Amino acid sequence: MRPCATTWDAEMSAAEHGLLCRLLREGDWHDRHLEVGTAAGGTLAAMMNCYEPGKRPQFVVVDPMAYFPDQPAIVRQNLTRHGLTADDVDFRVGTTVELLPAAASARQTFDFMLIDGCHRLSWVMQDLKWTRLLNVGGVVCLHDYAPKHQGVVCAVDRFLARHPHYSEIARADSLIAIRKDREASQLEVGWSDEWYARLRSVPLAIERKWNRLKRNAA
Ligand SMILES: C[S@@+](CC[C@H](N)C(=O)[O-])C[C@H]1O[C@@H](n2cnc3c(N)ncnc32)[C@H](O)[C@@H]1O
Repeated sequence: MRPCATTWDAEMSAAEHGLLCRLLREGDWHDRHLEVGTAAGGTLAAMMNCYEPGKRPQFVVVDPMAYFPDQPAIVRQNLTRHGLTADDVDFRVGTTVELLPAAASARQTFDFMLIDGCHRLSWVMQDLKWTRLLNVGGVVCLHDYAPKHQGVVCAVDRFLARHPHYSEIARADSLIAIRKDREASQLEVGWSDEWYARLRSVPLAIERKWNRLKRNAA
């Protein structure tokens, strides 16, 4: 069982929450906010509480809700515990891959995104496809941008290298914040990125297994 299933805590540090709150307070954003991967909703609650109730933009959560038993009920209770109501959140149950087409065809836009779902490279690359719905001046944050999570590092580094109209604006612990400075002239994540992710995933999986073996042997 994931610890957050019983503690209801956020899977982020205080410094990471501090950065999220600073970005949300300074952003002057009114369009939707997205969290990819909410676990027990601890960070969702912290982000929502960065806004005064009447001034809070629509929060959208994309999550398959199978991280631990009764995840949807626990998220709802956790929001209540933080003085919030789940009715104010647009919960979309499924993966980012499954749910992007509907959001894109409805021409939904976002001012802020937090990506903290599955940290495998292919998944992070899929999550980053949502940035095509990010408004200019909006910010996407990714959690676990750290050597332990090479999937996140590889996806983010490639994204930043290929898209000069996005720039890193801040970091706290393993949270990285990236701003969309101009409209993209090409899709943020295209077929070459997907192929890169598939091919690069093989050595990353071997590396993960090797590190696990070394840890178990020690
Ligand atoms: C690391 S936890 C999120 C932690 C949370 N953001 C916090 O700070 O407390 C990962 C979450 O991502 C969700 N998830 C896994 N794969 C996903 C995907 N492909 N799309 C969206 N969410 C995903 C899991 O169900 C889980 O709730």
